[in-house]
Amino acid sequence: MARLNRPYLLHAGLRPGAEVDFDSYPFNIPAVREMGQIDFHPNVTFFVGENGAGKSTVLEGLALALGYSAEGGTRNVRLQTVESVSNLHEVLRLARGVPAPRDGYFLRAETLFNVASYMDEVGYTEGYGGSLHRRSHGEAFMAVLLNKLRGRGLYLLDEPEAALSPNRQLAALSAIHALVENGSQFIIATHSPILLAYPHARIVLFDGSGLAEVAYEDTEHYAVTRDFLNHPQRRLAQLLGDDGSP
Ligand SMILES: Nc1ncnc2c1ncn2[C@@H]1O[C@H](COP(=O)(O)OP(=O)(O)OP(=O)(O)O)[C@@H](O)[C@H]1O
Ligand SMILES: [Mg+2]
Repeated sequence: MARLNRPYLLHAGLRPGAEVDFDSYPFNIPAVREMGQIDFHPNVTFFVGENGAGKSTVLEGLALALGYSAEGGTRNVRLQTVESVSNLHEVLRLARGVPAPRDGYFLRAETLFNVASYMDEVGYTEGYGGSLHRRSHGEAFMAVLLNKLRGRGLYLLDEPEAALSPNRQLAALSAIHALVENGSQFIIATHSPILLAYPHARIVLFDGSGLAEVAYEDTEHYAVTRDFLNHPQRRLAQLLGDDGSP
């Protein structure tokens, strides 16, 4: 049983009275408009929901409000190649716990390549166990998880599973657990039914009506994956309009 950490981030929401334009990005996204207050689990909070539901937008808003660059990395990374950053962070109000985290990282699947180039450029690679460019996508991800995150930290991860084989996703789960045991808090946007199984966590579903907490077994990720793996031929027949055989 994981200990219940003292959270670094307690909750977040739109600042009351903030002037926002609900007709344009990011406030035209239903989940952002109706976000209310996100209460973070002291250990792990997952963001789930359909593609385009607003998970990355909110995660990026939190990261920018915490002082990260939109590209991700540590707070020392100063990169600006992401073209259109939303202004959500300007109207987010974060409630932080005490003490402050000792470590932190914003890991984005989409921009890890840019962060890796930046690390090579500034000559800072030993913290990652060597250049990330000399590894596969998944190896680079695992290198960040295993070498770069040192504990007692607040970590924001956007689809960490994107590059990982199922076995590496299991390894990632156990790395995340070790960091939780070492006093860390995670906020993770994910589509992975493996990562979502982590028990010491809250799952927040982003959909058209806003944000809501959901049980693991009630996520689409769990239900659809389980159903498909239990009845692959039947589902293929329905999808492909035949018996699914080549
Ligand atoms: N820079 C931008 N300008 C305008 N609209 C944007 C911008 N970035 C994202 N959007 C729109 O905002 C919505 C939410 O995008 P977001 O990337 O937050 O979704 P997501 O939940 O992370 O999806 P996924 O699961 O595919 O990663 C999408 O409909 C997208 O088209
Ligand atoms: Mg996303």
